Amino acid sequence: MESQAIHTATLDLSKIREDFPILLRKVGGKTLVYLDNGATSQKPKPVIDALVHYYDFQNSNIHRGIHKLSQEITIAYEKARETVQKHLNAAKAEEIIFTKGTTDSICLIANSFSKTFIKPGDEILITEMEHHSNILPWQMYCEENGVSLVVVPVTPEGELNLQDVKSLLGPKTKLFAFTHVSNTLGTINPAKELIALAHAKNIPVLIDGAQAIPHMKVDVQDLDADFYCFSAHKTFGPTGVGILYGKEKWLNAMPPYQVGGGTIKTVSFKKTVYAEVPLKFEAGTPHIEGGIGLAVALDYMNAIGLDHIAAYEQELLAYATKKLSAIDGLRIIGTAKEKAAVLSFVIEGLHPMDIGTLLDQQGIAVRTGHHCTQPLMDYYGVPGTVRASFAFYNTFEEVDKLVDALYKAIKMLT
Ligand code: ALA
Repeated sequence: MESQAIHTATLDLSKIREDFPILLRKVGGKTLVYLDNGATSQKPKPVIDALVHYYDFQNSNIHRGIHKLSQEITIAYEKARETVQKHLNAAKAEEIIFTKGTTDSICLIANSFSKTFIKPGDEILITEMEHHSNILPWQMYCEENGVSLVVVPVTPEGELNLQDVKSLLGPKTKLFAFTHVSNTLGTINPAKELIALAHAKNIPVLIDGAQAIPHMKVDVQDLDADFYCFSAHKTFGPTGVGILYGKEKWLNAMPPYQVGGGTIKTVSFKKTVYAEVPLKFEAGTPHIEGGIGLAVALDYMNAIGLDHIAAYEQELLAYATKKLSAIDGLRIIGTAKEKAAVLSFVIEGLHPMDIGTLLDQQGIAVRTGHHCTQPLMDYYGVPGTVRASFAFYNTFEEVDKLVDALYKAIKMLT
């Protein structure tokens, strides 16, 4: 088979796949081919075991108890924070804030940083390839506060033109927020260069890293990012938990966003004094087992090796791109030079939803629709796309199955 001929993978796929019990599931009588990793990734056994272990042996609340269980779990949760810190190469554990996910992290910045640093008449710069979660919080803040939302256009390939960015970073720009990797196009934006352009004008930068962290090494100090967000559930960890990294100087200068238990030093009816970072941003009992599960997921990725994962996925992407491009009438949306393993496409005369339904009947899970990027769909003049998004546990054989299933679907629909 062609897929075996070019398979030079550096990963032990059969061993890795054994760690993901769900990959043995049958759908429509066939073994599941899970290509919807951009929506959420599957969880390896160590992550699942950590969650079960938490409820079997560890369940208690953090930062609140003097009893053994509470002390143990507080240590475990803070150790998880340190694992995230090391994974991102943040300077301090205090710069890592646990949130509900990327959306929550961006909303925190839009409701806290903005209040202090973005005033009427200012501008916020985003890009045309943003997920709705990196559009709507800014749009709402702009509408409510007399601030202008400025948008960097995408090129037909799905890239950003650096000259456009340079000229749109103006004297009124108070924040540049962009995605590291586009969930729809797969484009890997040149984050370091973009940040340097903004910093040359003293403009802080927030990066939506939801689709980057599952695929590559990210070093927030090397990037010099001011803020960096991601979600655990797209990174082989539990749902309902995510991360906001922020440079300490910003976090210290920002007011709390949501307040409540855990965020304070002292409370009286006259005056409340809030805790230092990170606690002032972590109101209420957090997703304790989620934070611990995320750390296990990051350890799992690191044990495989982030460079190995990236190299393998690039091979998978190149193979899938070649095979899909050979299908008559199929157009890939997003042809940037630097891409993560995400393939969006349309097929002439066919609705993405119909294709997705027929793939599902053959056991293949993809996402169809606008992928929460409606402005991008408008730009490309399509109602939606079919999106196959890969993870390190996907195989070349699964790409072959996708292609075979597509041919069958096309035959049935035409
Ligand atoms: N943002 C996720 C996706 O792209 C849900 O599918």
